[in-house]
Amino acid sequence: MLPRDVISTGSLILRPPVEADAEPIVKMCDDPVTVRFMPLLPRPYTLEHALDYVKSSTGKWEDGGAEYAITEDGRFAGSIGVRPPDHWGVAELGYLVAPWARGRNVATTATRAVSDWLFDQGVRRVELQAEVENVASLRVAYKAGFQEEGRRRAAKRLRDGRYVDLVTFARLKGDAPVAPYLPFFPGGELSDGVVRLVPMAAGDAGDFHRMMAEPGVRAYSLAPPTTLEDDERRCRYTGYWWVSGQRVELAVRDAASGAFAGHLQLMQVVPALGQAMIGYSLVPEFRGKGFMTRAVGLLVEWAFANTGLHRIVAGTDVDNTASHAVLERSGFEREGVHRELFPRPDGTRADDVQWVRLRSS
Ligand SMILES: CC(C)(COP(=O)(O)OP(=O)(O)OC[C@H]1O[C@@H](n2cnc3c(N)ncnc32)[C@H](O)[C@@H]1OP(=O)(O)O)[C@@H](O)C(=O)NCCC(=O)NCCS
Repeated sequence: MLPRDVISTGSLILRPPVEADAEPIVKMCDDPVTVRFMPLLPRPYTLEHALDYVKSSTGKWEDGGAEYAITEDGRFAGSIGVRPPDHWGVAELGYLVAPWARGRNVATTATRAVSDWLFDQGVRRVELQAEVENVASLRVAYKAGFQEEGRRRAAKRLRDGRYVDLVTFARLKGDAPVAPYLPFFPGGELSDGVVRLVPMAAGDAGDFHRMMAEPGVRAYSLAPPTTLEDDERRCRYTGYWWVSGQRVELAVRDAASGAFAGHLQLMQVVPALGQAMIGYSLVPEFRGKGFMTRAVGLLVEWAFANTGLHRIVAGTDVDNTASHAVLERSGFEREGVHRELFPRPDGTRADDVQWVRLRSS
């Protein structure tokens, strides 16, 4: 059984919930972000639900778990709950922060403090799960020193019936936070006034799908054709891939009209080498205007200024002269040829011209 300790950390005090928390709990649970990511909470969430939760929290302690109210300078700021540790000393926690307390490290500080406290109680391993689209929660996990261990596909059902993937994390004693290899863009996007680079989102799936099916793009695509559902799922992974340092997936937009002009990605990120690869495509109406040269320039300058990358590489079909021109104008140099790397639909194979731009160039 876990002791009903009060945990004090920085400006936060964590203590068991009390009846006076019920009103702020209602406000916290009626918030759109909470409704989106906590589909099991009743909706609308009433004072009665909150009072029931406070009453039932005593039982959670008696069952061997823990249920904490997070307070900041005496004001209710959120909740954090722990499932009873299992036979092997493995516990799972979950958190929820009130809208008025978000974005100030409340969840991160409370999660780190509760997991440290659990280690002091003999727990060996603390687990948590976050939805792939819940970027704030994924950030909390990394910042609190948890390590990603895998994904559980279609493990959670949302209120609209859609099944979503969960990312699983665990923290062992001694696990410490690691700075993100790919920080987010300042203000959420990059722009030179002509093009805007914004993270791909579910709303881009239709445009992206049409572009990928266009013959000029298909001719140089190695991936098999995808369905609209595949592409929507891919767009929903953008935040997770970014926050986990795996890749950056961008919609290239016409700054004047906001129209979707294409796609640009930074993938195959290898921190040990300081190397990553770019790949891109434009929709036909936006070709021949220098859009991708601008987009590649913005992304590469950002990457060299904000990440540990030293080499940004690209691979192009030997016949793809439009792509060669983009790379040359963007300061890339030819580095070599992989002979007969790319399989073509007619059964022949094409050479791959390799390009690089170094941090110093
Ligand atoms: C997830 C949640 C608990 C985070 O609480 P919080 O106190 O705001 O978290 P923190 O301030 O410690 O950290 C949030 C991080 O996410 C980032 N973030 C928040 N929203 C983001 C978004 N839409 N895109 C990218 N990053 C985002 C913040 O910038 C911050 O990271 P940073 O310090 O690197 O800038 C809160 O959003 C919440 O209660 N959500 C609803 C319930 C929920 O999702 N619970 C978790 C279920 S697994």
